[in-house]
Amino acid sequence: MKDIIWSKILSVGVDEIDEDHRKLVTVFNILNHAVADGESAEYLAAVLDELIHCTVWHFSHEERLMLKHDYKGIAEHKAEHQDLIKAAKELQQKILHADSAVAEENIVFLEHWLTEHIFTSDMRLGAFLARAI
Ligand SMILES: [Fe+2]
Repeated sequence: MKDIIWSKILSVGVDEIDEDHRKLVTVFNILNHAVADGESAEYLAAVLDELIHCTVWHFSHEERLMLKHDYKGIAEHKAEHQDLIKAAKELQQKILHADSAVAEENIVFLEHWLTEHIFTSDMRLGAFLARAI
């Protein structure tokens, strides 16, 4: 599939969150290329590990900002973060234990995993923080 191209449409209006999201997009694209190039399951799992680590760190960053600015939607947003990490870890296990290469559908799933959260919950959070910061 095509790389995710960063554009203003993905901006949540808060620079420090956008910077994190750009990094996540970069690592996602590395994974996308790894799949297209037919890299080994171990390599794909390693890239996914990098993506998961970056995401966990980024979620902690967002959750700290939510606490600092007393964001009312914090419980719901945190629950969504936990679900996203769980889904990525399940996918990682699937990749590690699969005989065949990662199917395109898994990458499409991850692309949605990343962009849907940005387009919905993070846009709401960004609009709130842009006023609060
Ligand atoms: Fe978030």
